[in-house]
Amino acid sequence: MNKDNLFSPFNLKNYVLKNRIGVAPMTRMSSIKDSVPRQDVLEFLVRRAENGAAIVYTEAIVTDYESAQGYPGQARMLTQRQIDAWKPVVKAIQDKGALAIMQMFHCGRVAWEEVNPANRIIAPSPIQPKQNNRLTGKPYPIPDEMTPFDIDHVITGFVETAKGAVAAGFDGIEIHGAHGYLINTFLSAYSNQRKDAYGGTIENRFRFAKDVIRAVHDVVPEDRLLTFRISNWSAPDMGVSLFENKEEWQELIKRLSKEPVDAISVSTYHYRDNAFGTNQNMAAITREVTDLPLMICGQIFDRTSAEDALKDADIVLSAKSILLNPNWVEDVRSGKELPLYQSQDANVAYTDKPLP
Ligand SMILES: Cc1cc2nc3c(=O)[nH]c(=O)nc-3n(C[C@H](O)[C@H](O)[C@H](O)COP(=O)(O)O)c2cc1C
Repeated sequence: MNKDNLFSPFNLKNYVLKNRIGVAPMTRMSSIKDSVPRQDVLEFLVRRAENGAAIVYTEAIVTDYESAQGYPGQARMLTQRQIDAWKPVVKAIQDKGALAIMQMFHCGRVAWEEVNPANRIIAPSPIQPKQNNRLTGKPYPIPDEMTPFDIDHVITGFVETAKGAVAAGFDGIEIHGAHGYLINTFLSAYSNQRKDAYGGTIENRFRFAKDVIRAVHDVVPEDRLLTFRISNWSAPDMGVSLFENKEEWQELIKRLSKEPVDAISVSTYHYRDNAFGTNQNMAAITREVTDLPLMICGQIFDRTSAEDALKDADIVLSAKSILLNPNWVEDVRSGKELPLYQSQDANVAYTDKPLP
């Protein structure tokens, strides 16, 4: 890769990105009322577009009013009011020359009763995450094993949320299949011990993701993007490798690549880490088996790390650096020396302190 790769354009389906930098999805827990984020949280996204990011992802939007929510103050895209709140934000992001993509998810077992209006926690199997819930200090509740009705109901939530994003004018929609949330727990045998068509073999564990992707694709117009985020790590099971080996991961990526998905976003702790006992990082392992555009994320914090991460990917996403530095894209462009932020530095994201 030559040194100018980071700021060169990239063709993503029918869109031309002006560079290879995107704002990673970041939950802000700011939706106090009506599942609409605080105004300063929305404006924060617009400023990231203004600073030159080519893609701006939203926080993870929860897909229903029953069991999808896992954190207080999460946003939805299901009512006219919610859609109307996002419309000017999407337009402003686009006016600054960036793509706006809505990420959506169902938290699955990473939830507790109080945050879900219907008081229901569901997952592929009745198994709790390993860690305690950091927000309550207690173990997560044992989730209900999803029934066929639950599966249909949850898919409907993804579909309705995608329709909301289309109505709000988003250029794309991302299905969050990473980080230990619902879709991710179906993919991994660590959390999926079902005996029906949704558990067991890789084909079966992939079935729920496939059903969601196809149902969503049916309601997303052809000129919009559909991306899928995946990881080998789970937020409430830190240190656990969700997939056994490189072969299992690659088998999933191959299956994903056959679906109507326009890009795969691979989330890592650190983009450079070798994975599955190999001497390759997650992007390289993924790239070996897919021709789809690839996004990579995880401790990309300056020009050198961003260029390096692009060796095996097409687009870099940044969370903490872009969260804490409103001038990050321009600072990267100028090759400025920049700090590598730690997780705790990002806690300000969840306060009511407006970020610059
Ligand atoms: C405040 C904050 C909120 C996050 N919320 C989400 C989210 O809603 N969806 C998601 O896929 N990842 C989320 N992440 C993970 C980031 O997208 C990213 O994968 C991770 O922070 C590693 O990237 P970084 O090293 O650039 O921070 C969040 C991260 C932070 C710091």
